Amino acid sequence: MTSIIKVGIAGTGSHVPERIMSNDDFARIIDTSDEWIAQRTGIRERRFAAEGECTSDLSYKAALLALADAGVEASDLDLIVVGTVTPDQHLPTVSCQLQHRLGSPKAMAFDVGAACSGFMVALDTAASFIATGRATNALVIGAETLSRWINMEDRGSCILFGDGAGAAILQPHDVCSSGEILNSCLGADGSGFEYIQAPHGGYRVRPSDDNYDPALDNIMLRGRDVYRFAVNKMTEVIEAMCEGYDRDEIALLVPHQVNQRIIESALTRLEWDPARCVVNIDKYGNTSAASVPIALDEACKDGRLKSGDLAVLVAFGAGLTWGGALVRW
Ligand code: UT7
Repeated sequence: MTSIIKVGIAGTGSHVPERIMSNDDFARIIDTSDEWIAQRTGIRERRFAAEGECTSDLSYKAALLALADAGVEASDLDLIVVGTVTPDQHLPTVSCQLQHRLGSPKAMAFDVGAACSGFMVALDTAASFIATGRATNALVIGAETLSRWINMEDRGSCILFGDGAGAAILQPHDVCSSGEILNSCLGADGSGFEYIQAPHGGYRVRPSDDNYDPALDNIMLRGRDVYRFAVNKMTEVIEAMCEGYDRDEIALLVPHQVNQRIIESALTRLEWDPARCVVNIDKYGNTSAASVPIALDEACKDGRLKSGDLAVLVAFGAGLTWGGALVRW
């Protein structure tokens, strides 16, 4: 029988590309404005990867920072899990590319595709390996280059997304003595798979087919439906993660940066003080799987999360999928 070992987050790191794409840059290309985007989403700018810069490149830089933060050698990693839906190529995985580039020959490596919930799914998966003694030094990443996957003619979606990567190192809690994962949840509802999709991006409809439309290779949203789902699910997951605790005991919420209005609506429902919630969507837009680990890393580095603090992480996205965690820093 496997024993259940307490799991801790030993360190974090994040990286975003240099190139800034402002709302005004979009307004020069499509029929939109800085005012519309900022008011409807809270986004002011986002980062776009440079030509040739891929998800594995962003992940690599975030991973190095997380390893240094945790004081762990890449050669000691025994697990690498990457949450992404924008890999460098279909085969093999970003995690295997990273395993080789980092120099982690002992690490089992695989990707998980859970869209904006990708980091939470990767975190929970890696935590299960640690909890059952199958890994002791795990690298968990959420990383995307969504700028490559947007339809620049669809103003309702292209303005939302940005590129970036966030990373965390997991260890048994008695090794790292930080970031104990006290509770977590994952879920999915495939009945909403049409809310966020890229219908022609796989093998059901192929470029040689008569009905093939390259525009449908890109992300398509049913924005209003996603909006409703996101407010409901964010509220529900946070409530579940806070169960057994007084709300005031939770120092910080680290939510998926989907839309500032969605976050604010959920906070209003929860009667949650916005000062205890990380919002950086103005700088990065929605970076999908990267958004929670980037926000978490920023909160750790700028002192908003201190030793002993309780934090709730929450993400939701295409699938539909969602995930949450309660962590004592
Ligand atoms: O992480 C998961 C992926 N994220 C999402 O799926 C995002 C969730 N949804 C949202 O964040 C919001 O629904 C959006 C930001 C996508 C849209 O905001 P909205 O307040 O729901 O606007 P809407 O779609 O109802 O559109 C309102 C109007 C429309 O014009 P008409 O029909 O009223 O004349 C749109 O054509 O705004 C128009 N519009 C724009 N106008 C200027 C849509 N996009 C833009 C734009 N610039 N970029």
